[in-house]
Amino acid sequence: MKCVVQALLLCLFSYACFAATPTPTKSIPVPAVAGDAEAGKLKSEDNRCQECHGPDGNGQGPATGAAGKFAKLAGQYPDYLTKQIRDFRSGLRKHDFMLIMAKSIDETDSADIAAYFASLKKMQGDKGGENPVGKNLFINGDASRNILPCVSCHGIDGRGIDAPQQTIPVIGGQEWRYLEKQLQDWRSGERHNSEGGIMNTFTKPLTDKEVQALADYISGL
Ligand code: HEC
Ligand code: HEC
Repeated sequence: MKCVVQALLLCLFSYACFAATPTPTKSIPVPAVAGDAEAGKLKSEDNRCQECHGPDGNGQGPATGAAGKFAKLAGQYPDYLTKQIRDFRSGLRKHDFMLIMAKSIDETDSADIAAYFASLKKMQGDKGGENPVGKNLFINGDASRNILPCVSCHGIDGRGIDAPQQTIPVIGGQEWRYLEKQLQDWRSGERHNSEGGIMNTFTKPLTDKEVQALADYISGL
């Protein structure tokens, strides 16, 4: 208690000294600018993002012939989206077309577009994700192969874990084909933009069957 009082007094004292001196010209850290979802709605239309990712951010679904290879962006964390756009732009995440798209927008557009897709109703699967193999890996991981439970980072049913500056994505209800490709790309190392290569570590020991089982289970959530 005494310490607290002392600290408080010290604070007050230094504030008093500080206040008595002329205003210093030190720079104040600029807070991260949150995107403007209204502006992002128009920008995502003008910049053609909606053509592939859907006006509602739910991709195009298997019915269109695109067969679900365009990621759903609806309800995704804005900081995750912004990171991916940066990674496409820098080439850290490789995809020929998304490289062109990411280069066609600046950081403000990117923040606005991310805010727009993040503001939409969170992506949903068809709730048909009955797959015992996928479910078991998702919930329990496999300690013998150093696979951490997916749920520990991606949240219950892959719905994400809300936190400021969240860069761990929502994956529950994501497109099947997109999920399968990402898991294969993590496993082969083609995609290698996760911090410390964690996603490469967790997918490396998976078999093709397990990759498909996970895509089945997660896309249905
Ligand atoms: C011609 C189709 C097309 C257009 C137009 C397009 N995208 Fe994409 N986008 C894709 C595909 C395909 C992927 C998946 C890439 C992969 O397989 O890694 C993707 C992936 C993404 C991802 C990563 C999603 C995730 O869950 O990691 C983001 C973010 C994204 N796009 C944002 C945008 C933005 C913003 C625009 C507009 C400036 C845009 N896209 C325009 C096809 C498109
Ligand atoms: C320790 C935390 C952690 C665990 C455990 C984890 N992930 Fe991830 N996962 C991440 C992070 C972080 C990213 C985003 C990496 C990036 O691109 O910046 C990610 C990305 C992904 C993506 C890409 C999503 C997209 O929209 O492109 C998929 C799919 C995925 N994880 C599936 C899984 C599966 C399946 C498991 C379990 C076998 C798993 N993850 C376990 C942290 C984790």
